[in-house]
Amino acid sequence: MLMHRNVRTLWLLLLLLHVSAFKWNLFKGKPELLEGDVRLSGSKNVSEGRVEIYHEGKWGTVCDDGWDMAEAQVVCRQLHFPGAKSVVTGQDYGKASGPIWLDDIQCKGTETHLSSCDFKSWGVTDCSHKEDVGVICETGDTNFDDATHFLDQSISLSDDLGKIFDSGTGCDFPILVQSETGNRQEDGTLEVAETVICAHTLILSQFPLFNTSTVSNITVSLSQFCQPHFTTFIRYIYTRKIDVTFSSVQCLHWMASKFGVEQLMEAAGRLFSEVIPEDNSFQTQVSLYEYAKETGDLVLQENCCQYLAWNFQKLTASPAWTSMSVELLAALLIRSDVIVPDEYFLLQVVESWITEKGNSISTETQVDLLSRVRFPMISAEKLYELESTSSLYTAHKNMYRENILKAYQFNVLLFSNLSNPNFNKNDDDYQPRIYTTEPWSTTLDPSKRTSNQDRYRYQNSGYYDYNRGVYYANTATHSFTTPVHSSLIFKNNKINWEANVFMSSYECSARGLRCESLPMARLVPQSRVSRDSNILFRNRLLLMCQGKYVCQVQDFKVNLAYISVNGTQGVAYPCPTDQYTYQFVVRPEYV
Ligand SMILES: *[C@@H]1O[C@H](CO)[C@@H](O)[C@H](O)[C@H]1NC(C)=O
Ligand SMILES: *[C@@H]1O[C@H](CO)[C@@H](O)[C@H](O)[C@H]1NC(C)=O
Ligand SMILES: *[C@@H]1O[C@H](CO)[C@@H](O)[C@H](O)[C@H]1NC(C)=O
Ligand SMILES: *[C@@H]1O[C@H](CO)[C@@H](O)[C@H](O)[C@H]1NC(C)=O
Ligand SMILES: *[C@@H]1O[C@H](CO)[C@@H](O)[C@H](O)[C@H]1NC(C)=O
Repeated sequence: MLMHRNVRTLWLLLLLLHVSAFKWNLFKGKPELLEGDVRLSGSKNVSEGRVEIYHEGKWGTVCDDGWDMAEAQVVCRQLHFPGAKSVVTGQDYGKASGPIWLDDIQCKGTETHLSSCDFKSWGVTDCSHKEDVGVICETGDTNFDDATHFLDQSISLSDDLGKIFDSGTGCDFPILVQSETGNRQEDGTLEVAETVICAHTLILSQFPLFNTSTVSNITVSLSQFCQPHFTTFIRYIYTRKIDVTFSSVQCLHWMASKFGVEQLMEAAGRLFSEVIPEDNSFQTQVSLYEYAKETGDLVLQENCCQYLAWNFQKLTASPAWTSMSVELLAALLIRSDVIVPDEYFLLQVVESWITEKGNSISTETQVDLLSRVRFPMISAEKLYELESTSSLYTAHKNMYRENILKAYQFNVLLFSNLSNPNFNKNDDDYQPRIYTTEPWSTTLDPSKRTSNQDRYRYQNSGYYDYNRGVYYANTATHSFTTPVHSSLIFKNNKINWEANVFMSSYECSARGLRCESLPMARLVPQSRVSRDSNILFRNRLLLMCQGKYVCQVQDFKVNLAYISVNGTQGVAYPCPTDQYTYQFVVRPEYV
């Protein structure tokens, strides 16, 4: 189990995920280095180290003549830190070898790259490595510590196994670890650093991908970024215990997937899911999905997909939307838990997504994506206008005509009368997604009705919760009306609903209810639907975390939905506080 989560440090993983020049390439062992890139070397802490700059295929250091805070600012900002904290000597981080690239450097402090500052000339210097510079960068308003999550899956394994690995006693399975240093050699090839780790066949044989049954040693190629974590990973195989940090989680996940160590993969995946709601730009979720596909991690893949489906409307307005892959969009469009205002909205965004991609998407793919839109769920009024409002109608006339016809039939016939053999009634096209537009949904925010000041004023009509120290003026309640079904024949056939959120057992008992836990949401029809209409309501409760993102979608069981009040427990994506807004969605389905 992952212990101790520290949401405030998640920025680091976000930074690694999409700001770092290495991006996901870091898994592939070939970071693309560019002339003038800088790095901080020799420290375990990513925010400090000896300053090194990349030139002509080689990392080199910087001499301290002329080095000041202005220069340090430039380095830290080039590395996407907010600024520099202090200047230190490079020797604090061990002695460097290789060239000294920069000397007598003068920056204004506003440059975006260290190589844009004034300096003598590349490699022209009278310094020795004793004068190398280092910096400590600012890490923003968060108290940066790369929070450690201690993972213990050892159950009954002895700690002695770790000692056996550390001492190497009796080891019989050498693992040669190779990683590129980033330096280019004289002949232009990349320099490769090699280390050997000696392990035990008996231990590694639990995981077939180490090939212990067929070979007597293996060679593993790792990126420079993942190389430092490999020993920790092998030690985990012995002890089933490991410290996972946000900077190591990607590497550990990747190694675990490479060697089929599923338990570790799942645990790392859970740590990933803590990051998912943190990124409003949706870049993290989309790149995590692609990464999960690459490594074949179905759990992580589903985790990302579900979040994107639940927060679909925000996704469509984010920078990640147009850069999404066809596969990901297709995977989202088959889901019934996509939360959108209505199906017409979905059609419009898919059309504009396709239009934006232009000719890079084949006609077949366009048709495939468009046919995943559930036309029968589009209102009859909108269907009628599609020919003139849809930007792709002329390009895909047949597809549109066929689907519009199908949708009309659905709108004007009872489901039991849909007998055209071309139409499969089990088709998802006849089932709603989660539509939030009026009149199908209503939102309650219980926090809006609470106030300590009002306690006495409303004494007779409310309830003071001594445990929470909060006064509830009255139960959060809303009544609303929907048609019995979305199809046109039920247009004038209405049903009334009452939605409540109960925060205290007092409120429950005042209505003759017994709440097993609190808060509890209730959505009750105020009238009966005739049985022979074959309509069943599969309603949903959406929990919005602090009004920012959907962190949970729940069913109602006999009109009731209990909400877990334990932060991460029971909620799919963590919500730092239990401040939810509750959205009730009515979903009639034909059965
Ligand atoms: C890393 O450096 C920052 C900035 O100096 C510091 O706040 C933090 O405690 C350090 N973290 C670790 C794990 O040493
Ligand atoms: C194990 O053997 C397979 C098939 O020969 C090979 O593809 C794979 O890379 C080997 N694994 C390692 C870690 O060498
Ligand atoms: C690795 O194994 C191969 C044969 O599988 C053998 O030829 C080679 O000597 C071994 N290398 C080491 C370092 O043991
Ligand atoms: C549906 O079919 C039934 C017979 O199965 C028929 O009586 C009824 O009129 C039909 N309704 C519509 C709306 O077509
Ligand atoms: C919430 O957590 C506490 C302590 O961790 C536990 O005792 C309680 O049962 C949990 N409640 C729910 C509703 O999960």
